[in-house]
Amino acid sequence: MANILGVGNATLDIINIVDGYPAEDDEVRAEAQRVYRGGNTANSLVVLSQLGHRCRWAGTLADERDARPILDDFERHHVDTAAAATISQGKVPTSYVILNKRTGSRTIVHYRDLPEYAFKHFARIDLQELEWVHFEGRNPEAVKRMLQRVKAERPELRCSLEVEKHRPGIDALFHHVDLLLFSRTFAESRGADSAESFLDSIRNEAPESDLVCAWGEQGACGLTRRGQPVATPAFVPPRVVDTLGAGDVFNAGMIDARLREQSLQSSLVAAARLAGHKCGQEGIEGLV
Ligand code: ADP
Ligand code: FRU
Repeated sequence: MANILGVGNATLDIINIVDGYPAEDDEVRAEAQRVYRGGNTANSLVVLSQLGHRCRWAGTLADERDARPILDDFERHHVDTAAAATISQGKVPTSYVILNKRTGSRTIVHYRDLPEYAFKHFARIDLQELEWVHFEGRNPEAVKRMLQRVKAERPELRCSLEVEKHRPGIDALFHHVDLLLFSRTFAESRGADSAESFLDSIRNEAPESDLVCAWGEQGACGLTRRGQPVATPAFVPPRVVDTLGAGDVFNAGMIDARLREQSLQSSLVAAARLAGHKCGQEGIEGLV
């Protein structure tokens, strides 16, 4: 069991479950609706908490009623929110999700009007008892300063960075982390057409990190800091019902396995198994 800090997003997800994806300008009825706390880092922390770790969340919330279900859910999963920053204006980030129960595909319309977690918030966090810090890589300028603080105060503290989308300055962070978790979207934005070719192309930008790139139902690839390529297939469940948050569950599986000192190859397999298991059920409750 480890002490883990996650710096990133928490959202309110309004998930409409439909029997087949609608056409543009259609009017369809949802078969069910779930309102649930989401957000990449928040989801990963909730899974890490299920895996037995002590988790803390650092992110922003707006001072409005939609923050309540998010805080309640964190509490239910024993995720500490003392480092959260409540901002007086703006809106809790909200995702309107169409979940197609026939395929498990999730289409997200995301609305955001909230400042990101700033360095001044991070500066107040006591880093002494932590064993891992995970960053979402949303605001590279601030995250760079956060990583510099970690390296100055706790050089041995391991850090991971999720790189989901291209954001100006994001590549300047690659040098500072132990584990880089890239998305297919990011790899494709760099012109790659496979996880392996992307990881090869990015190697020189992060010579001291273990690299991972997830590729949906094709599984995931990795490249160790020593240059050893590793890979896993996806573990597709008998019925794929909900892929919302698969990547967040995968990231939690990676962090957990690395904390258990598993090799990058074994970690990839463990993470893909957990993410595959998630795709066979609705939501991320009771995964362990
Ligand atoms: P995201 O949720 O961020 O879009 P991905 O689609 O890349 O993330 O998926 C992350 C991991 O989840 C994949 O590497 C794979 O192991 C697993 N996964 C994703 N989709 C499926 C699926 N349909 N069946 C089984 N596993 C899946
Ligand atoms: C899933 C998710 C949702 C959230 C969206 C934010 O990966 O974290 O819970 O609404 O992505 O982009």
